[in-house]
Amino acid sequence: MRERGVKRIGSDALCHAPPMTLDLGCGQNKRPGAIGVDHNRDTAADVISNIDRGSLPFRDNSFDKVWVVHVIEHVENVVSTIEELHRLTRAGGVIVIETPHYTDFSSFCDPTHRWHLNTFSFRYFTADDAGYGYYTQCRLRQKRLQVKLLRLWKLLGFELAVNHSFAFRKFWEHYLCYVIRGKAMVFEFEVVKQAG
Ligand SMILES: C[S@@+](CC[C@H](N)C(=O)[O-])C[C@H]1O[C@@H](n2cnc3c(N)ncnc32)[C@H](O)[C@@H]1O
Repeated sequence: MRERGVKRIGSDALCHAPPMTLDLGCGQNKRPGAIGVDHNRDTAADVISNIDRGSLPFRDNSFDKVWVVHVIEHVENVVSTIEELHRLTRAGGVIVIETPHYTDFSSFCDPTHRWHLNTFSFRYFTADDAGYGYYTQCRLRQKRLQVKLLRLWKLLGFELAVNHSFAFRKFWEHYLCYVIRGKAMVFEFEVVKQAG
């Protein structure tokens, strides 16, 4: 079986193919080396396509990594968007999602934002689904979460506490976040696929 990402050239020489990266909703800041997709033509996109209209024009398991930076809050349906990105990403591949925390100024300021999310909003795709795993069949494993707070709260050490203690993050989400407001969240998920 051929190792993923390795191309056989001629009879025995091997060379590593670069990882395939997708930047969904790349806008004018497409990540270097990525294939950019956006529904707006006035962007750096390589492919003009709207994820709200169904499948993007790529085969299953085409990508090793997918960036979704300040985009998920704009789409029509969060669950079907994640399902489509899960289809496009190989098993073990990575989806990185950055989005505003719902208590940030930007979350409710931008009239094109449809969703206002918190640090637990993607739990329904993971093993920690609170009993609601039936929303979707698509499964992710959360590898990393970085919460960014406003500068003052960061300087006072709250950002460190939110990022280093699950219990404190939960307490912050339930009791503190309307005062100690969030800014953005960066989630890194590994794509889990059933064998066969
Ligand atoms: C706030 S901008 C972020 C741009 C870029 N990712 C960045 O980090 O600067 C959101 C981008 O998502 C794109 N977008 C929003 N909804 C989309 C959709 N349904 N399908 C494809 N692109 C979409 C917008 O056109 C816009 O370029």
